[in-house]
Amino acid sequence: MIRLKNEKQIDGIRTSCRLLSAMYRELIPLVKPGVQTLEIDKWTREWIRKAGGKPAFLGYGSKNNPYPASICVSINNEVIHGIPSKRRIQEGDLVSLDCGIDLGGYISDQAVSVEAGRVSGKVHDLNVTARECLYRGIAAAKPGERLLEISRAVEGHAKEKGYGVVHEFCGHGVGLSLHEDPQVPNVPHGPNPRMTGGLVIAIEPMINMGTGDVDVLDDGWTVVTADEKPAAHWEHTIAIFRDHTEMLTEPLE
Ligand code: MF3
Ligand code: CO
Repeated sequence: MIRLKNEKQIDGIRTSCRLLSAMYRELIPLVKPGVQTLEIDKWTREWIRKAGGKPAFLGYGSKNNPYPASICVSINNEVIHGIPSKRRIQEGDLVSLDCGIDLGGYISDQAVSVEAGRVSGKVHDLNVTARECLYRGIAAAKPGERLLEISRAVEGHAKEKGYGVVHEFCGHGVGLSLHEDPQVPNVPHGPNPRMTGGLVIAIEPMINMGTGDVDVLDDGWTVVTADEKPAAHWEHTIAIFRDHTEMLTEPLE
């Protein structure tokens, strides 16, 4: 069931989203070769707490394997849900960050892929295209249109460039909890409701250099590309109004 949000709720979600983007603007310059991904997690957790929010991902999921960190850090062949660890970022890594804040019950969700030092031209092109896929998806998210127009826009752009699109994980409704209906797939499939005022969704293309097929590691979280080639992931939270669409999280590039 899709929970449409009223103006007051969207105001709360927008404030949460703005806070998350502000956090990223401070965090991204710190994502450099030599930094441990656990340090990124600790920094994030403390920043969110100081700002008066709660990390929306910490403890999320099933009771026997809750997500153990405040931010997902997924490097190179890791697509999403990478768990911070003692691993250090290396020159040329593509580091995908994904984080959410709970601010007074209003949930935001945003992801960005950061190039650590100088990445190869091929990886940079992948990253640029993944970000373009996100903005194509947002441009297709219009009141009165069908939801899967977003998926068509994302998949079409990625395919044109010869990349794989992850089909096993999707964007989603967001705002009052982290994952709400509807699913927002990056490859068209499933329910195709019309987008109407009050719809708040996270659009999050996961674009792979090679195959769109993925595996989940034994930790139960880390999603990796099946062919071990790199992946990029970009995400915004947006709101649909009766006559326009608004990005609630802010551009980071
Ligand atoms: N932003 C991601 C998503 O939209 C990550 C949430 S899963 C979590 O699905 F467990 F890490 F919180
Ligand atoms: Co999301």
